[in-house]
Amino acid sequence: MLSTTRLGVTRALRGQFGRSHAARSFAQSAYQCQGLNEGQQHDRTTHFGFETVAEAEKEGRVRDVFSSVAASYDRMNDLMSLGIHRLWKGNFVRSLNPGRADSEKGWNILDIAGGTGDIAFRMLDHATNINQDMNTRVTISDINPDMLEEGRKRSLQTPYGNTDRLSFLQGNAESLPTVESNSVDLYTVAFGIRNFTDKDAALREAFRVLKPGGVFACLEFSHVNSAVFNAVYKRWSFGAIPLIGQLVAGDRDSYQYLVESIEQFPTQEAFKDMIQNAGFLTPGQGYENLSMGIASIHKGVKPV
Ligand SMILES: C[S@@+](CC[C@H](N)C(=O)[O-])C[C@H]1O[C@@H](n2cnc3c(N)ncnc32)[C@H](O)[C@@H]1O
Repeated sequence: MLSTTRLGVTRALRGQFGRSHAARSFAQSAYQCQGLNEGQQHDRTTHFGFETVAEAEKEGRVRDVFSSVAASYDRMNDLMSLGIHRLWKGNFVRSLNPGRADSEKGWNILDIAGGTGDIAFRMLDHATNINQDMNTRVTISDINPDMLEEGRKRSLQTPYGNTDRLSFLQGNAESLPTVESNSVDLYTVAFGIRNFTDKDAALREAFRVLKPGGVFACLEFSHVNSAVFNAVYKRWSFGAIPLIGQLVAGDRDSYQYLVESIEQFPTQEAFKDMIQNAGFLTPGQGYENLSMGIASIHKGVKPV
């Protein structure tokens, strides 16, 4: 109830004042006018792009973003990354080499924040066509029903739609009560975790659901390791992506959030530390940079 009221106030102010400091100060006064006590005003905060918001507010704001972009999500991915996201996703899936021909059971894969199913379909294609494994199955889990609905529609164009190799689960990655402990062989999350409110909670949940020896694998935007290239990349991401969002999807704000959320995501090393803190072993360097660090793949193994 409280967070709904706050959300309403903050949204109304955002509409009137944009994201200015003035809007935030005014919101603070508005909370006081509503009689919220000091403790309630000092709820824990987190990032929503470059904004600082109450933790309780972030989930709803992220849900609004992805409900707004769901229908244009796949087309926009191609435009924003000039098609490069396909190469990154291909690399990610090949590096995991899902499926094994000698097993009757196949792998149990949980694709968290799976959205419109890009990773899940690639995983099943790889298991089937490369490893001749017809038993590996993927559960696409996402907090957003609109993204899952797009995934469900797309699945009907694949050999896996309406089969027991593919299922859908709506849920928050930070708490997955219907997923049994020690039941998953491979946990994947692609371009999802930077949107989570409590990333450490999601990592702990990944650790819980994976079998001993199971693999956590994350593909996420990261931090570019060349100053010159970084300047070009920042110009593109902050200049072009919100504009493309506005022109193609009629939604500048959501794409502004997407580029800001990339900036707020921990560095490659800091994220590796978070994975280790959740209990995972991180073999080798623990991550692989793609396109000079625009994206990176992090992996962790649950100890046997
Ligand atoms: C950028 S999309 C990525 C979709 C897909 N994995 C891909 O690579 O194309 C991010 C997804 O994260 C989902 N998401 C955000 N917060 C979440 C949470 N707390 N738990 C589960 N999914 C979440 C969003 O609904 C959205 O579908």
